[in-house]
Amino acid sequence: MPSLVSAYFDWLAQLYDETTAACKWSAPRYLAEAGLRLVVPGDWVLDLGVGTGQSAEAFLARGCCVAGLDFSPLMLAEARRKHRSLVLAQADLDCPHGWPVAEGAFHLAISSGVYECLLDPVGFIARAKTALRPGGYLVFTFDEFVPGHPVQGVRVGRADSGIDNPVADLAGWKLRRHSLDRVQVWLAEHGFEFLGETQIEADIHSAFDVPIYYRLVVAKLVTHRA
Ligand SMILES: C[S@@+](CC[C@H](N)C(=O)[O-])C[C@H]1O[C@@H](n2cnc3c(N)ncnc32)[C@H](O)[C@@H]1O
Repeated sequence: MPSLVSAYFDWLAQLYDETTAACKWSAPRYLAEAGLRLVVPGDWVLDLGVGTGQSAEAFLARGCCVAGLDFSPLMLAEARRKHRSLVLAQADLDCPHGWPVAEGAFHLAISSGVYECLLDPVGFIARAKTALRPGGYLVFTFDEFVPGHPVQGVRVGRADSGIDNPVADLAGWKLRRHSLDRVQVWLAEHGFEFLGETQIEADIHSAFDVPIYYRLVVAKLVTHRA
């Protein structure tokens, strides 16, 4: 079912790379730095919320087989146009039904710039878990709740706060910020060992000219039983 969020990303799809370059979107680079050391050529990588393929690119270049999920058909079309070797499927990461991923098929699941869009952040971890082999890794970013920050000082806020991209008016949907301690608990509850985190400056929201801080989390699936 199309939502305001998927409609927003459909509208943004053809402008996404240009817009993210303008606001110095760097989460895919940090994701690659953390994730590339966990894979070898030929490994299967699942990109949850693949967008136009920015987060998948470094893993394709490493020789991994990369599958990307997204609920925006136009983002998927851009990803397909840019990266012929990407395996792509439309899926809503919030939805447990019709999950199109074979159980235990992936060495690594990655995700950048997506977690804050989701209504079901715990379900995301549960679904990433089913996709991974035992010993597989999950590397993802989340938009952090930062008390006192002009944009990130609220846990639930409009996605367009401080953005001046051409379709910002469509971005009236709410994004959800999280705290590291809560995310760590969710990971542990799903059988992941927490391996590390780092705070990154993901982009600059030009209206405030302040960095937007994300956490990058690295976790390893130690048991499928949790
Ligand atoms: C900010 S973009 C990030 C794209 C890419 N990972 C990157 O780092 O450039 C967020 C992506 O997540 C997708 N997305 C958001 N919520 C989703 C959901 N519930 N299910 C599937 N995809 C979703 C959007 O369509 C969009 O392509």
